Amino acid sequence: MGNMIKAIEHAFWLGTEQCSYLIHINKAGKPVCAYFGAKVPLTEDISAFLEKDGPSNGRRVIYDKEKDPNCSLDDIAAEFSLPHKGDQHNPSLLLENSDSFVFDFVYESYEIKEAGPVEGLPSPRGGEELVLILRDQRMEAELDLHYLVYEEGVIGRYVEIKSSKKILCRKAMSYQLVLPNENFILESSYGNWAGEFQKDEAKLTHMGYFFGSNTFASGDNHNPLFFLKSGDSSAEHGSVYGFNLIYSGSHREEVEVNSFSRVRVSAGLSPQHFAWEIDKGKPFVTPVAILAYSDKGMNGVTAIFHSFIRGRVIPEAHRQDLRPVLYNNWEGTYMKFNEGKILSLARKAKKLGIELFVLDDGWFGHRDADNSSLGDYTVYKKKLPGGISGLSKKIHKMGMLFGLWFEPEAVSVDSDLYRAHPDWAISDGIHPNSEGRNQLLLNLTKPEVRDYLFEHLHRIISEAKLDFIKWDQNRPLSDIPGGEGGFVHRYILGLYELLSRVREAHPDLWMENCASGGGRNDLGMFSYFDTGWVSDDTDSFERASIQANMIKGYPACVMSNHVAAKTSHQLLRKTSLGTKFDVASIGVLGYELNLNDLDPIDKKELAAQIETYKKYRAAAQFGEVHVLAEKEDGRIIVSSIKDGQALASYCNVLQTPHPAMEKLPLAGFEAGKTYEFSVRPEKYDPRRFGSLINMILPFHVKEEGKLVNVVSRHYAMDAEKFSGTMDGEALNAGALTLGPQWAGTGLGENVRVLGDFGARLYLFDAK
Ligand code: DGJ
Repeated sequence: MGNMIKAIEHAFWLGTEQCSYLIHINKAGKPVCAYFGAKVPLTEDISAFLEKDGPSNGRRVIYDKEKDPNCSLDDIAAEFSLPHKGDQHNPSLLLENSDSFVFDFVYESYEIKEAGPVEGLPSPRGGEELVLILRDQRMEAELDLHYLVYEEGVIGRYVEIKSSKKILCRKAMSYQLVLPNENFILESSYGNWAGEFQKDEAKLTHMGYFFGSNTFASGDNHNPLFFLKSGDSSAEHGSVYGFNLIYSGSHREEVEVNSFSRVRVSAGLSPQHFAWEIDKGKPFVTPVAILAYSDKGMNGVTAIFHSFIRGRVIPEAHRQDLRPVLYNNWEGTYMKFNEGKILSLARKAKKLGIELFVLDDGWFGHRDADNSSLGDYTVYKKKLPGGISGLSKKIHKMGMLFGLWFEPEAVSVDSDLYRAHPDWAISDGIHPNSEGRNQLLLNLTKPEVRDYLFEHLHRIISEAKLDFIKWDQNRPLSDIPGGEGGFVHRYILGLYELLSRVREAHPDLWMENCASGGGRNDLGMFSYFDTGWVSDDTDSFERASIQANMIKGYPACVMSNHVAAKTSHQLLRKTSLGTKFDVASIGVLGYELNLNDLDPIDKKELAAQIETYKKYRAAAQFGEVHVLAEKEDGRIIVSSIKDGQALASYCNVLQTPHPAMEKLPLAGFEAGKTYEFSVRPEKYDPRRFGSLINMILPFHVKEEGKLVNVVSRHYAMDAEKFSGTMDGEALNAGALTLGPQWAGTGLGENVRVLGDFGARLYLFDAK
């Protein structure tokens, strides 16, 4: 075993190259956080780290006068908290039995060992573990605080509650952490369908912050990823703490500042859906949470999370494999397809250099719209007379991998499955069921439902020799039945069991996570899935912003980004295919538009994009990511660098007639190394310039007239040129000066016509 955990008298050090964490057992036997921050020497003498005794604060409950006349549980940096013994702030645990609401756990012993899996829940691979065992003898209950330490700089935490008498748990957070306030800014995300990962920031005040999801899924409303940034931190500098949960169900995050400027942070299961009976032989375990600290700003925490997730969370089999470039027919055809159309799309995809063809929703039962057939695993013969196996064979013969869409957790009322087993749908059995996207959810707490789903998934994956599945989930939960408490958590445990079986049976299958886009992109799901569809919003500007926020906590290799049709189906905003690619290129590239409708000039563009992507794919999917500018800065810039290659994706917000002189902020390049840089060759559709085009043509064309329409199918104008060499240190210093943006006059060869929401991709190669 390594030496990341060190037990000293009444205290424990957790240490990595990036951070140190000191837990002290105070005089009252309560574990407190004496330090969590930048790496420090793990000294035996920790007295200088500890809070000094002082007078107790006026109106306080003193926990135990004999042990410590000054200790009120309200004031200490407690590593967990329960109410009713003087702690007035948000508890991390709520327990009760028929006799009392008071549970008073006191430190008893510890254990240090190799970290093992957490039963029934996804947990990271490897690591070292410290368990602090606490007991309330009077209640015959035990509380184990688990600390997992990973060399990437991540501290994992979860709690386990055991009891030899029946108790009820009403709130279970995976951790509590108390930090001195460094003028923290809380950064989290909010959102909804087609608008996930919208950045939210708040300077902490004493009002307290609560967010999370009560949808039953980790949700597009508030992802469990959040950060506390010290007031003077920036993208590359200063103290930032990052937090996430390895969990896919309803969750809650709480941040509270007390009047002594202590910040209490916790996260775990949403109490709204939660009540759990604990009894002899029936312990309860919370999901694992992860915590990280960096003194290198937000991008420092991002780097820690990325290497940790790539190494220990995502499935082992494809952990380091380059993700294939895929085509998905959803926005190209929706459910209006037949085998002929699919094969013609596949042939075109192959010609462009695409490696994986994915058939989306609409291939089963009699599904022509979203109101039928979910739950039925028979092919829709009218559309696909040769079946899925037949289609798969043909696509394989073209030299591509083949993938298929499923929505295993759902059932349509108009389905054979629902007609045979109406009791398999989630329902309280009293009220009529409420539908979401015209469907119900299957009750995954029932083993027979999971068996049914596993059998059919396993059969189709094996028979059709699928290389990839997209696992979708398209509605929140409603109509929860009574009976055993914690239905939502049981559902998620059922889901994890089903996913484990699919994964065990098909370790090499590529699996993509989806929940109406990013409705369940969390570390629980990424423990089983290689990638996740980021959002149903394929508008490039929206995506640039969503991706820039998601990538702060999730590595590029899990983020599935597609180039869609020029006119966004969600916003009806028009952007070029070039811009769409420039935004999609940091992550896992895919295409989702009707390839049969491409003009000759578009085909050339797409083929060139795929060629560029393949050349830089390792950096695009596995590079060190830096988010260098965000929407509020008037441009979104994200870079990714690996082994001497780098990409920087630049997306403009709004064009102005007075564009600023721009330098390209960059980071992560090697000092002393020379890099060749260039902009990916971009093209302008002549129609872009409207009637202004007449200023350079020897003849006259009408804006959007027939002639210009025909010409633009075959011809596009070259955009600006930009290339040269620069030292890594100068690139990191942000010295690379960009060409001017179009400002109404003169289209010189350096001038960038970005317009509103236009993008560029800058490419770098070490010489
Ligand atoms: C929602 C997904 O996000 C889409 O990509 C697509 O798969 C549809 N569901 C299909 O119903």
